[in-house]
Amino acid sequence: MQIQPTTRENAIQRRLRRPQRHRLLQGYPMDPLMNRDLPDSPTFPGWVEPARPLIVGVIPHPFCNPRVEGCGFCTFPHERFGRSKAVACAEAVAREIDVVGSRSPRRSVEAVYFGGGTANLTPVAQLRRLGFGLTQHFDLRSAEITLEGVPNLFLAHDEERLDWLAELADRGRISMGVQTFDPAWLAKMGRRAFGDEAVVAEVVGAAQNRGLTTSADLLVHLPGQPLAAMLRDIDRAVAIGLDQICIYPLVLFEGLGSAWSRDPDLLAARPRNDEAADAHARLRERLREHGYTPSTLTNFERGPRRFRYEVASFHPERYDAIGFGPGGITCLSNAEQSTKWLNAARADDYVARIEHEGRAVDRHFDLTGIDLQLLQLTRGLCLGGIDRLAYRDRFGADVLDHHGRVLREAVAEGLMHIGSRRIHLTTRGCFYADTVQGALAEQRVASLRHSRMDRRHLDVLGARQPMG
Ligand SMILES: C[S@@+](CC[C@H](N)C(=O)[O-])C[C@H]1O[C@@H](n2cnc3c(N)ncnc32)[C@H](O)[C@@H]1O
Ligand code: SF4
Repeated sequence: MQIQPTTRENAIQRRLRRPQRHRLLQGYPMDPLMNRDLPDSPTFPGWVEPARPLIVGVIPHPFCNPRVEGCGFCTFPHERFGRSKAVACAEAVAREIDVVGSRSPRRSVEAVYFGGGTANLTPVAQLRRLGFGLTQHFDLRSAEITLEGVPNLFLAHDEERLDWLAELADRGRISMGVQTFDPAWLAKMGRRAFGDEAVVAEVVGAAQNRGLTTSADLLVHLPGQPLAAMLRDIDRAVAIGLDQICIYPLVLFEGLGSAWSRDPDLLAARPRNDEAADAHARLRERLREHGYTPSTLTNFERGPRRFRYEVASFHPERYDAIGFGPGGITCLSNAEQSTKWLNAARADDYVARIEHEGRAVDRHFDLTGIDLQLLQLTRGLCLGGIDRLAYRDRFGADVLDHHGRVLREAVAEGLMHIGSRRIHLTTRGCFYADTVQGALAEQRVASLRHSRMDRRHLDVLGARQPMG
């Protein structure tokens, strides 16, 4: 006989038990909720304010070449690498930059991120073309510029990609996926050829010789991984002299779509949420002991330079963001509204659209009212909390008047603390930010899903005219 719960769980309590998804990239609303009934070629709306600070993301292609499908764990778009496909895709991205750039006023850019996957697998001729295209249409003179990728490729061809970056940027940064220094796990991920500890150290040295700063991603809470092993990875990353260390709790659950999410042994070896949250607190403390302070939920920095791109991307109320390339995300705002566009993610689809239309926007969503509040709140939580004064300035009321029920439930579970100026995540809350974000958006997401279903139903009945 099934035992019925005597009291109903609230959204926070229910989500605390579920896998945490740590949705840092996409933001609100997630792509399935965005609209596909697009005008042919969306252009920048008239209300865009060119004086607002701007960041630019460039995804040259979605290709990579691990030996295990998607490195086992990866939730980023990843298609099998082929040089000619990568060249064609990067050329299409250069075209998109020209088309979009020529339609908008020349704006100053605070930070550029060449990423989305393994951007350093882009041939240097195409990187040059992309960099040149950006400088034609945007003012990059004071921009931080980051190139993302796997460690060994920064050393390839006499380190020519590092030379390119150092020439392009006064504030250049490389960001590499290290994941772990443990050779057994690297083998399981099919990443042995991407570089071991010695290669990572060599890359850091080569970057530093050119005045570039360095960042590395570590995956933590691997199935069955003891806390001591995670701490060892952090200590080894620190010893190499990285300026920034990013720790990503592994997202893994049945149905996620990654190769590991189909492996019952790995699923069974995942830590329980409360164990992972405790371990996570210890990892954060270790980074602090080494002098690294958090700039976002995942990023920890040491040294005089503060990195800009990620922090800006979590402030949509202050920064516009333009995303070029497959899967690129654009989010433009003023005080009353935002508009969000998402490019086609698959390389062949993206390239075909750029060839035919010059643009590749696949979905869009216009945000006002509650959607604008949720965008600001969910992104702000990636920085650790909610600025009550900024919220009141923009929305004319205290955030507790609008979202008090969920925030108080989060406080009751020890995830948040309410201060007079700021409502912030506790150390435990930093692990469960996804729970708070999901609970804040839950009702609105349910009503958007409903209205989408209604629209589909009307389409099927032929009662709705297609939009022009
Ligand atoms: C685009 S990928 C990294 C760059 C490069 N392609 C590489 O593999 O080194 C960005 C980072 O996201 C993190 N990531 C990917 N899938 C993840 C997952 N399922 N859970 C947590 N973090 C993940 C990894 O740490 C990865 O380095
Ligand atoms: S982690 Fe990097 S190399 Fe591995 S599949 Fe994802 S994008 Fe490709």
